Amino acid sequence: MKIIIAGNLGYVGPSVATQLRNAFPDAYLIGFDIGYFMHCLANAPHIPEVKLDMQVFGDIRKFPEQLLQGVDAVVDLAAISNDPMGNKYEEITLDVNYRAAVNLAKMAKKAGVKSFVYASSCSMYGAASDYPKKENDELNPLTAYARSKVLTEKELAPLADNSFKITCLRYATACGFTNRLRLDLVLNDFVAGALINKEISILSDGSPWRPMINTKDMARAIEWAIIRKKEDSGNFLAINTGSNEWNNQIKPLAEAVAAMIPGAKVSINPTGGPDKRSYMVNFDMFKKMAPDHQPINDLKSTIQELKDNLVAMNFNDPKFRESNYIRLKVLSKLQEDGLINGQLEWKFKS
Ligand SMILES: NC(=O)c1ccc[n+]([C@@H]2O[C@H](COP(=O)([O-])OP(=O)(O)OC[C@H]3O[C@@H](n4cnc5c(N)ncnc54)[C@H](O)[C@@H]3O)[C@@H](O)[C@H]2O)c1
Repeated sequence: MKIIIAGNLGYVGPSVATQLRNAFPDAYLIGFDIGYFMHCLANAPHIPEVKLDMQVFGDIRKFPEQLLQGVDAVVDLAAISNDPMGNKYEEITLDVNYRAAVNLAKMAKKAGVKSFVYASSCSMYGAASDYPKKENDELNPLTAYARSKVLTEKELAPLADNSFKITCLRYATACGFTNRLRLDLVLNDFVAGALINKEISILSDGSPWRPMINTKDMARAIEWAIIRKKEDSGNFLAINTGSNEWNNQIKPLAEAVAAMIPGAKVSINPTGGPDKRSYMVNFDMFKKMAPDHQPINDLKSTIQELKDNLVAMNFNDPKFRESNYIRLKVLSKLQEDGLINGQLEWKFKS
């Protein structure tokens, strides 16, 4: 089996490399990434990509079609991957997350690839609701990032057929430690704040609902998506990926972190108001269809793994919200330093 993982040099990528290497020891694994965050390593004994057979540097907006020859599965993680970046780079977010993804799927289908897995997001449900959203419920994308995911799913659907299976994994918010750590994700931010500043500062009033999933479980879901039988779950599938047990409000999440990090206090932003991006999600379909690939990491073990790794790497930056672990900061710095242009292309490549 030959598998391409596009966008592998980010936060989730190292977990996917580990999972696919373990699940398919003989597979030929190819990473493809533009490399914005490749240097942002955390507590890494080696670069995570040693588990791959090949690493290609390139822009998914100009994906080299010949790389798809003989490939069985494509996993697309490549993205401008959160709302703050999506707000700053709106058109590029649509180009990378949506247009390039659809184009890659079309090329993959033409090349005879059998399975295409797209990292979608539950953020497409968008606005506050008092019931957990199911796959067929109305979508309400509030940001460019969420819109990019909705548009992609819509255009991927008609491409699927008996010989080309497409799975859109609508992920809950990611959390947990990987060797390309992000601290712009809520739980990771809480653990870092609790350890360094003894303060978990909630930017909203703490009421929003936010389902969570550990990156290792995201990677297990990708393995499932590659091997799932389309006879059981369809040529095209868009599926909420997470677990009902991990639908949390922000405040109890912060309190769970405080309970595990002595001396840490929770502070709520009194002027923050309720964050509009609040959603509960129903993960019943994933539970039914992927019984052997259900999330196995829980809140406690995830907080513990974050804590242990941050301690092991002597993490002590009180201004971590300005650091290399914040995706938007890294992109902005690359641009300020003249390394990438306004289109987020490397300047030294034509
Ligand atoms: N982290 C989350 O909470 C979460 C939740 C739901 C879905 N997702 C999705 O999972 C995927 C992976 O997320 P992540 O947290 O690892 O994000 P990340 O930002 O850490 O990684 C994204 C990767 O895409 C690469 N990339 C960006 N533009 C590219 C381009 N033009 N060409 C090639 N590569 C490009 C980046 O270099 C980076 O390595 C994304 O699609 C994201 O939208 C993430």
